[in-house]
Amino acid sequence: MNTISDQEIKIKQQGYLDTDLPKGINLTEEINRLRKEKNAIILAHYYQKDEIQDIADFLGDSLQLARAAQNTTADIIVFCGVHFMAETAKILNPSKKVLLPDLSAGCSLSDSCSGAGLRALKEKHHNAIVVSYINCDSTVKAESDIIVTSSNAQHIIETIPKEQEIIFAPDRNLGRYINQVTDRNMILWDGACVVHEAFSLEKIGKQMLDHPKAKLIAHPEAQKPVLQMADYIGSTANLLNYVVNDTCNEFIIATEEGIIHEMKKRAPHKTLIPAQVDNSTCNCSECHFMKQNTLEKLYMCMKYELPEITLDEELRLKALKPINKMLELSQKIK
Ligand code: 13P
Ligand code: SF4
Repeated sequence: MNTISDQEIKIKQQGYLDTDLPKGINLTEEINRLRKEKNAIILAHYYQKDEIQDIADFLGDSLQLARAAQNTTADIIVFCGVHFMAETAKILNPSKKVLLPDLSAGCSLSDSCSGAGLRALKEKHHNAIVVSYINCDSTVKAESDIIVTSSNAQHIIETIPKEQEIIFAPDRNLGRYINQVTDRNMILWDGACVVHEAFSLEKIGKQMLDHPKAKLIAHPEAQKPVLQMADYIGSTANLLNYVVNDTCNEFIIATEEGIIHEMKKRAPHKTLIPAQVDNSTCNCSECHFMKQNTLEKLYMCMKYELPEITLDEELRLKALKPINKMLELSQKIK
């Protein structure tokens, strides 16, 4: 890279830049060229914009993306997701440069819990072990014993003796669901996903009446009444597989609607209905954090290799331990 320009400083500070794109540029061609030239891999979550999902080298749920980040031989990981995901990639693969097209792509769950807050809760429950959902920052991971994702949480919790006291952070909905299916009473951090908490029971009920043959499928970040009505509950990858493999042809989908893009590709003849949310302006279930990454920002970030995820090494090593524990305990889970 040449000496840093004003423009690069701006990207570094703001995390994104929409202006100054050369006129008439073919973004797909340019991204493909940069990817090859720089030996970069583009990892994307299912909630990303359609055009980002289409250009990614690898598309997956949180667990699959963490594994892909750990195993890649590319020099640069371009993470199209939210901050905690890109940070997890850096924790797992520190020798790689990890880029996030928009550094301000956060997460309400991650924002709900801090390392200091979790430490204070641990002090009240000396005998408890801490299991944290991967949707948290490195300071929270560093205070945790095991990390889980929505696709391995039940399996991992079931490996822990029933009498062991557990603090589960930061998602109260996933925690409550895991308590129910594993018959436990974990102490729950009071965090939630703004997107999954917005689903409207009333509107979904009406959608079910309008589509009597449809199955309701939901992500475990949704609230209890929605989960109680659901025919199937799973992570994004599990919801996708369910739609593809189940004999039913119609589904009401209670998770962020970005997943429907890949569902349509893999099950083109099925009817896929986004579950509606309580929102005065629209019924859509978009995560605005996830949608902060655009093709323009992806190009700019690959061109300037900014914004980059950086981490203090001591903190990284502390956060790595519970992630490795998760990977070790969930080898059988796809
Ligand atoms: P999964 O893709 O692991 O199910 O996670 C969903 C999510 O909310 C990510 O932020
Ligand atoms: Fe966070 Fe919810 Fe957005 Fe996932 S969908 S990134 S949990 S706010």
